[in-house]
Amino acid sequence: MAAGTEPKIAVIGLKKSFGEKPVLRGIDLEIMPGESLVLVGGSGAGKSVFLKHLIGLLLPDEGHVIVDGIDLTLAEPSVALRLRKKFGMSFQEGALFDSMTVFGNIAFPLRRHTDMDQAAVAARVRECLELVRLENVEDRYPAELSGGMRRRVGFARAIALEPDILLFDEPTTGLDPINTAVIARLINRMRRELRVTAVTITHDMNLAWKVADRLAMLREGRIIALDDPEGFRTSPDPYVRAFLEGEVIDEEEVAV
Ligand SMILES: Nc1ncnc2c1ncn2[C@@H]1O[C@H](COP(=O)(O)OP(=O)(O)O)[C@@H](O)[C@H]1O
Ligand SMILES: [Mg+2]
Repeated sequence: MAAGTEPKIAVIGLKKSFGEKPVLRGIDLEIMPGESLVLVGGSGAGKSVFLKHLIGLLLPDEGHVIVDGIDLTLAEPSVALRLRKKFGMSFQEGALFDSMTVFGNIAFPLRRHTDMDQAAVAARVRECLELVRLENVEDRYPAELSGGMRRRVGFARAIALEPDILLFDEPTTGLDPINTAVIARLINRMRRELRVTAVTITHDMNLAWKVADRLAMLREGRIIALDDPEGFRTSPDPYVRAFLEGEVIDEEEVAV
């Protein structure tokens, strides 16, 4: 990495509570351009809440989220909207529109945010489906697809507007090991071919090891470990070690 390279995303002192319940208690994290960062943690640890702050779907109580040098938390609405377009997000359950075909789902952001004509939209939808290795599904409805295929359609929709940051929320939840491996390969393929920065949140270490340049562990609202895969694998932190052994699943259960 060149000296002086600016982080793609800088999170500074991020705090967020819901009512009396503190969820994020001071997060500091820099994500470099082209990096794939994986944030792991138990269920309920605040991973999804964290991810929603990156894209401005939630605003911090305290702290800052800076994308390409621009503070998302202080930005005018028009600037915030422009920043948000740098992101492609794949939500936890795929979040496809059930009443639309696969084609309609992927075309949706193109029709909404670009002035591409029908032919250009169709070509772009095909390109996106090619990238996630799906064929002959354009006319199907989400309910007619397997869970793994729905995730891949969600990926295709997330990349439609050529984002330079991709966010993945639990992309393998509910999938079997074979489909998990397919999703991991696709995430790496998208990173390679689209040269994006990627942030993935998951509690699935099978996925995490396959896609991470660095891993961060979220616990009780703080990042308690941050390292490359080798360093993370050999972390002396007892919670990280327990997590890697599969002993910790639910933050709610271990919270003090
Ligand atoms: N919009 C919200 N309003 C109130 N509480 C919320 C909201 N979103 C998340 N929470 C709470 O914040 C905590 C962390 O949630 P979440 O980020 O979804 O966890 P996970 O790490 O499983 O993704 C949970 O206790 C959840 O109930
Ligand atoms: Mg979540």
